[in-house]
Amino acid sequence: MMELPFKIDLKGQTAVVTGGSGVIGGMFARALGLCGASVAVLGRNMTNAEEVASEIREAGGDAQAFACDVLDKESILACRQAVLDKWGHINILLNVAGGAVKSAQIPQDQFADCAGDMLNFFTVDMDNIRRELDLNLYGTLLPTQIFGEVMVNQANANIVNISSMGAYAPLTRIPGYSGAKAAITNFTEWAANYFAKSGIRVNAIAPGFFQTAQNHALQFNEDGTPTERSRNIIRATPMGRYGEPEELLGALLFLVNPRGSAFVTGAVVPVDGGFHCFLGV
Ligand SMILES: NC(=O)c1ccc[n+]([C@@H]2O[C@H](COP(=O)([O-])OP(=O)(O)OC[C@H]3O[C@@H](n4cnc5c(N)ncnc54)[C@H](O)[C@@H]3O)[C@@H](O)[C@H]2O)c1
Repeated sequence: MMELPFKIDLKGQTAVVTGGSGVIGGMFARALGLCGASVAVLGRNMTNAEEVASEIREAGGDAQAFACDVLDKESILACRQAVLDKWGHINILLNVAGGAVKSAQIPQDQFADCAGDMLNFFTVDMDNIRRELDLNLYGTLLPTQIFGEVMVNQANANIVNISSMGAYAPLTRIPGYSGAKAAITNFTEWAANYFAKSGIRVNAIAPGFFQTAQNHALQFNEDGTPTERSRNIIRATPMGRYGEPEELLGALLFLVNPRGSAFVTGAVVPVDGGFHCFLGV
C-alpha cells in the first residue's frame, strides 16, 4: 500500500469514487481508505475495482467494489442504493471517471492542408467528440445529481471533480476533452454556489502532466526518447518535469478534510508544476 503525504481522519464517512478502477481513481480510493473512510470503489471494470477494494481491506480499511457506468442513470441509481444499503449514508463523492477518447484526437497541432488521408478537424467523426464530451462532462454531472441528492446536509459533505490543464487554455489535438474539462471547471463553480447552504462543498483538482502507463505512447517514442509533444510539455512546465501521480494526493486530502478546508468551495487546485501560469516567456 502507498505512503500518504499526511493523514486525515475520515472515520465514519462514506466515500464514493467513480473511475475507482482506474489509475488516479484507484489511488484516491486507497488514500481515503487509509484515512479511515468506508470506500465504494466504482468501476465498469469490476476486476480492477475489486482489486482496489481488496487492497484497502487488506490494509485494514473498509471498502467494496460496485458496478457503475457514469453515463447510465439506472446504473448510478442502483449503485447509490447498494452503497446506502451497505453504509447508510454518503459524505464524499470523487468524480474521477473520464479521460480523452483516442478516436476523438486530431493528430496535428495545427492545420496545414487537407492533402492525404490523415485525420484532421474536417474529417474527425463528431460522434467520437460527442462521446468524449459525454464521458467527461455528463459523466460528472449525472453522478453529482444522483449521489449529491443524498449528500445534502451530511457531515463533511463534499465533492471533488477532476478538471485538467485543458480547462485553462485548450490543449492541442484534443478539442473535445479540453472543452469538456473547461465545462467541469465551470460546473464546479456553479455547483459550489448552488450547494453552499446545503452543506455540500464542491471543488476540483486540475492535474498537469503525469508520467503514467496510459500516457506513455504520447510521451515517448518506441526507442525511449521523448516525443516532440513531451519536450513541449516539459518546456511549458516551469518545474521542468512530469509529476508523479502520488503528488495529487496532498490536494485531495486537503479538499476532503473537514478540518482543513471547511471554508473552501468552488476552488480548482492546479497540481501541475506551474504549467497553468506560464505563457512560455
Ligand atoms: N493521467 C493524467 O495525466 C490526467 C491528467 C489530467 C486529468 N486526468 C483525469 O483524471 C481522471 C482519471 O484518469 P486516469 O489517468 O486515472 O485514467 P484511467 O483511464 O486509468 O481511469 C479512468 C477510469 O474511468 C473509467 N470509465 C471510463 N468510462 C466510464 C464510464 N462510462 N462509467 C464509469 N467509469 C468509466 C475507466 O474504466 C477507468 O477506470 C480522468 O478524468 C482524466 O481525464 C488525468
